[in-house]
Amino acid sequence: MAKKLFIKTYGCQMNVYDSARMADLLAPLGYGMTEDPSDADMVILNTCHIREKASEKTFSELGRLRAQRVQRQAEGRDTIIAVAGCVAQAEGAEIMRRVPDIDIVLGPQTYHRLPEMVARATRARDERLGNQGKPFKGAGMLDTEFPAESKFDFLPEAAAPQGVTAFLAIQEGCDKFCTFCVVPYTRGAEFSRPVSQIVTEAKRLVAQGAREITLLGQNVNAYHGEGIDGATWGLARLVRYLADKIPDLSRIRYTTSHPRDMDDDLIAAHGDLPQLMPFLHLPVQSGSDRILEAMNRQHTGDHFRRIIEKLRHLRPDLALSSDFIIGFPGESDADHKATVKLIEEIGFAQSFSFKYSPRPGTPAAMLELQVPEAVMDARLQEIQALLEAQLVAFNRATIGRHVPVLIERAGKHSGQMMGKSPYLQPVHAYLPAETIGQEIEIEITELKHYSLGGMPAAGHAASRQPERAIA
Ligand code: SAH
Ligand code: SF4
Ligand code: F3S
Repeated sequence: MAKKLFIKTYGCQMNVYDSARMADLLAPLGYGMTEDPSDADMVILNTCHIREKASEKTFSELGRLRAQRVQRQAEGRDTIIAVAGCVAQAEGAEIMRRVPDIDIVLGPQTYHRLPEMVARATRARDERLGNQGKPFKGAGMLDTEFPAESKFDFLPEAAAPQGVTAFLAIQEGCDKFCTFCVVPYTRGAEFSRPVSQIVTEAKRLVAQGAREITLLGQNVNAYHGEGIDGATWGLARLVRYLADKIPDLSRIRYTTSHPRDMDDDLIAAHGDLPQLMPFLHLPVQSGSDRILEAMNRQHTGDHFRRIIEKLRHLRPDLALSSDFIIGFPGESDADHKATVKLIEEIGFAQSFSFKYSPRPGTPAAMLELQVPEAVMDARLQEIQALLEAQLVAFNRATIGRHVPVLIERAGKHSGQMMGKSPYLQPVHAYLPAETIGQEIEIEITELKHYSLGGMPAAGHAASRQPERAIA
């Protein structure tokens, strides 16, 4: 009987990608996915360390899983428990100490060793199943090395299809060392996969039905991989190559970028490459130069404004998204106002804003002048209200327009399909199921807060299907 694997993923899209790779690695060992942790023979928590709240979830979830495991043991079954991802990397030893019966703790750079670790954990589990009544022991394996070999060279060729929209990691790690951020410590130094490996994976994804690929990296536009000709290629060259070599790949996105690496070649690609979608997530963090400097962002507010100006000159409909940290140590009212001003000037289609969370081992956590919680709350509320208003205004402006929607899957209501606009807006429309994987011209008729509703635009092939009202 197939063994069951449950993976819970926290954090960023890179973790989502990694979770899928771990599932691919365990499939040859007979593991199939389950949605139910209480029924799983193996559970992996793929964790995130970016803010305190994200990190704490690991320990509370582990508590629940261990209780479930005890129940399963009483029924003569067992569960292998593994913690992967950035909390494992940052707090591996602490997890081993606080959770003595854990089986596997592995960092983001060693998950290609998972099959071997699972084989050892399985032997340990069989032993403890034969030891009923004796004190319980986990396999207790910890691997948070940054190995010399690249895990990407060890991934299986076979992989479960991701669907119409797929993720592809092309770069990992970060050398920027923003003073608030754990990523350079949890993911390690910047690394770019060679172009040939990326092209092989992209072709496989498209052969499996993907029409859109999002290229992933912690610092994706710092990409500098070995090109087909042996020279070092930047992101723009890679994107152009993929667009040229894979005709069925209709949409390309990339995330997450850093303003410093937004070079002219990449900006130009937004103007002349139709496959590159008019949506860019470009975190700015703050609008105050003083705070940006203390964050070691190595750019100013005006530097960011200039990039946006150039991009919008070439691609006027470009939708922007960003990240903001509210209440970085020393942030004054004037600094906060500078952030508000920048947001008002630029106008974002969507955004993420977070209260500053001091992370152990990062320089900013040591700074005096931490901003009081109540001040942070008030500032966060103001920023979030502003960003929310911009999001609603952006979506509202789409009403009445015709937009090409890449249909991804069935929606909640019968007969309804769901897809995304080029600007990453979710769009619902009544369409035949065969439209999955197609780009359909949709007339947007309705705004449902975060998503849009519409119907096939007149004259478009799909509009010959019976039209129904939007539910
Ligand atoms: N590589 C991306 C960011 C990855 S983390 C980049 O360079 O922008 C995602 C977001 O989490 C960051 O953009 C930042 O806004 C937020 N973040 C990171 N560390 C944080 C901290 N200590 N407290 C609050 N937010 C943080
Ligand atoms: Fe973190 Fe800064 Fe690197 Fe982004 S660029 S991952 S915020 S250190
Ligand atoms: Fe979190 Fe690690 Fe991603 S800390 S945001 S899972 S890189």
